[in-house]
Amino acid sequence: MSATPSPQGQRLTIASIARMYAAGERIAMLTAYDYPTARILDDAGIPMLLVGDSLGQVILGYDSTVRVTMAEMLHHTKAVVRGTRHALVVADMPFLSYGVTPEGSLENAGILMSEGGAGAVKLEGGERSARTIETIVRAGIPVMSHIGLTPQSIHQLGGHRVQGRTRSAGRQLLADALATQEAGAFAVVLELVPSELAAAITERLSIPTIGIGAGAGCAGQVQVVTDMLGMSAEFTPKHARHYVELYSVIGDAARAYAADVAAGTFPGPAESTTMDAKVLAEILGRTPLDRPQMVETSAGIPLDRDL
Ligand code: KIV
Repeated sequence: MSATPSPQGQRLTIASIARMYAAGERIAMLTAYDYPTARILDDAGIPMLLVGDSLGQVILGYDSTVRVTMAEMLHHTKAVVRGTRHALVVADMPFLSYGVTPEGSLENAGILMSEGGAGAVKLEGGERSARTIETIVRAGIPVMSHIGLTPQSIHQLGGHRVQGRTRSAGRQLLADALATQEAGAFAVVLELVPSELAAAITERLSIPTIGIGAGAGCAGQVQVVTDMLGMSAEFTPKHARHYVELYSVIGDAARAYAADVAAGTFPGPAESTTMDAKVLAEILGRTPLDRPQMVETSAGIPLDRDL
């Protein structure tokens, strides 16, 4: 875990990440999309949390990240920010929320920061996004770039394939990394890049590379939290490791709960409250005082005397 935790109550910034990088600490980043998970990850000392647009698939059930909107990103960014005290929260800029016009890119990055409370934004693209990164960084907003497999371009890339395997694709990836560093990005995500190439890019940059499916030679790693927690019944990417099997843990807990409800053993005394028997007797009209007043109506509420 980080050797440079934030002082009590202080949130990490891109300067903290730069210090970790300079000190040679490997940086652990995870995605988070909601308040309770963000609290757990923050308390566990994860220094950077990404409100990724993987939100679309893993939380909202869409078929791709392309469907995710600014409103959805904003909603989930706010929840993650509320759940954290220390972590630097990075919010993904969704498809077409950047790169169309400089004004639009800046406005949307600003919304994620000022309304959402994020500490930085992330956007996809290397050379093609350099101008956009420059515009946003110049306005004082930290940007993390994302190259290699860029899920928002999945229709162009034709699938989830390892990137940079040929001479020209590898050179392009190196150029992309350098271009985003030059444009002012404080870190770059390398997704689905061969380990050797990712390590070579890492060596040539002066900002941290954060790998996902890019081998151990990156300056840090990012994983989709639901992959790391083993929450999916169907698909786990090759690059993910399950640190727990939450799918079966949660399923077993749900089955045990349903069985207890069916058996009448939940809730038990520990999960229930009690009241003063005398007060209950008064409520239900069981006291001697109530009995002579049989004629008085009880406003339609069936008391014992009416049963
Ligand atoms: O959206 C996301 O979760 C991401 C990570 C895969 C880096 O961009």
